[in-house]
Amino acid sequence: MSQATTHIETIEGEYNLNNYDEIRENFDWSDAKALLSAAKTGKINAAYETIDRHVDEGYGDKIALHYINEGEKRSYTFKEVKDQTDHYARILKRHGVTRGDRVFVFLPKTPECYIAILAVIKVGAIAGPLFEAFMEDAVRDRINDCDGTLLITDQQLVKRVPKKDIPSLETTLFVEDIEKEPLQPVDGDDYVEWVDWEDGLIIHYTSGSTGKPKGVLHAHRAAQHHIVTGKWVLDIKDDDVYWCTSHPGWVTGSVYGLFAPLLNRATVVIQGGRFSAENWYSLIEELGVTIWYSAPTAFRMLLSKGDLYKDYDLSSVRHVLSVGEPLNPEVIQWAWNSLNVRIHDTWWMTETGGHLIVNLPAEKIKPGSMGRSFPGIQVGILDEEGNELPHGEVGQLAVRTPWPGLMKEIWGNQDKFKSYFQYKGWYISGDLALQDEEGYVFFQGRNDDMINSAGERIGPFEVESKLIEHTAVEEAGVIGKPDELRGELVKAFITLRSGYQESEQLLEEIRLYVRKNLSAHAAPREIEVMDELPKTKISGKILRRQLKALEIERANKVKN
Ligand code: WTA
Repeated sequence: MSQATTHIETIEGEYNLNNYDEIRENFDWSDAKALLSAAKTGKINAAYETIDRHVDEGYGDKIALHYINEGEKRSYTFKEVKDQTDHYARILKRHGVTRGDRVFVFLPKTPECYIAILAVIKVGAIAGPLFEAFMEDAVRDRINDCDGTLLITDQQLVKRVPKKDIPSLETTLFVEDIEKEPLQPVDGDDYVEWVDWEDGLIIHYTSGSTGKPKGVLHAHRAAQHHIVTGKWVLDIKDDDVYWCTSHPGWVTGSVYGLFAPLLNRATVVIQGGRFSAENWYSLIEELGVTIWYSAPTAFRMLLSKGDLYKDYDLSSVRHVLSVGEPLNPEVIQWAWNSLNVRIHDTWWMTETGGHLIVNLPAEKIKPGSMGRSFPGIQVGILDEEGNELPHGEVGQLAVRTPWPGLMKEIWGNQDKFKSYFQYKGWYISGDLALQDEEGYVFFQGRNDDMINSAGERIGPFEVESKLIEHTAVEEAGVIGKPDELRGELVKAFITLRSGYQESEQLLEEIRLYVRKNLSAHAAPREIEVMDELPKTKISGKILRRQLKALEIERANKVKN
């Protein structure tokens, strides 16, 4: 292992097991396709590639899933996961689920959640996984938007499903019931629906700066992107125990918590329950985690626990990755000095379906940069007219189209879909960045009002809409306030309706209102009452940028 250093300019790659220069030079997406068994047949089913294939190839006894949650521990082999997905698939078919149907899965991070998603995909339907902390409005808006017909949930979470407001929802299945049904011998029965590469695979709802969350639909072809980045970026080998900390309701949790590692036949860890540094460290020790994919806020929380890591044997960890928000150099330095590992940042989005900018395991890392484009991906930094800017200049972070993981459509919203492709041949991310001479890309913020708190995308409009539903709130402007731990925190500026007096109790009540109806992660951590909100002169639109500038100015005053 490398020597700890005091200041890091660059960190050289460690495990030179693969020839990455050659990969960069000779890469072709057809190599990615060739990794899938479907490459030979013309039709595909991503759930088959993820699980059944490994059983057919003789790895049925290998552990596919480890589940751990406060003392509870269960493991499943690939054969057991196959049998379980067949069991769920059989029940889905019995309820009339067919190719292309939208089937939602609203479950905590448990094996059943992963199995349910895979079963939906197996029968050719489109999986709609929902984050376990969503409240009524978030659940309703998503299922309604794409007319979901069936929901798999449990007796707890169903309390947050307002069924009477979701007319398309015909059937609700409970895992408690599914688990009780005897597992029928399914040999000879085949539940795999072979579909086209362009058929729908999974739909993830994601927030932007305007409107309600949009349904980003991915196709089965994305499996090419998943398998190849799992191989080269996650660096999965046969003996790896792989842990991604994200819930499959988010794209990181589905693509890199489920598809990519299992396509590469890794043993995947599912951790239930809340974050605690003690639980996380002991999980790594107990299960011998070798590859660990998490997010900067989580790493910062661990960092804030100081020497706690010394109480655990973390020597199994050989590869660490990060995503979702800027990974600050201090965190990279901490991991290098204390845990003796490099953190490999990765950049991508729900819409991109897989890694686009990465730090490959054997390449040097420049702390502060997100890395370089994945082989086969071309990054551009564009000005407002769509022209490429020279190295070192800040502009719109764009990517040459197409690539296999790129979203297929925004559900029912062609205009929104087109807005990503306003410059011919480019996908526009909405992020700002610069690129240096060696191709390393440095994140410079968002080009819109989208908020990123602890790696989760939050649309200001959604939060504002919820706030003004509260009887005391007249108007609201919501921004991301810079925050050391979470990157940004959700801050609301509001005006009160006449007759209401500002009080701590009232503000807490308003905060809880958003938390209870929308989601905990979107509830404002700070609410400030103003006499008047800044607005544009002509249209009277609330000027979020001005509110943000105010916060930044205040933060600078405190620093100086
Ligand atoms: C941000 C998560 C800085 C970015 C996979 C992007 C990042 C949005 C990074 C997508 C990174 C993602 N450094 N910022 N390494 N990775 N982001 O859709 O603003 O939840 O546009 O996808 O997160 O978030 P999403």
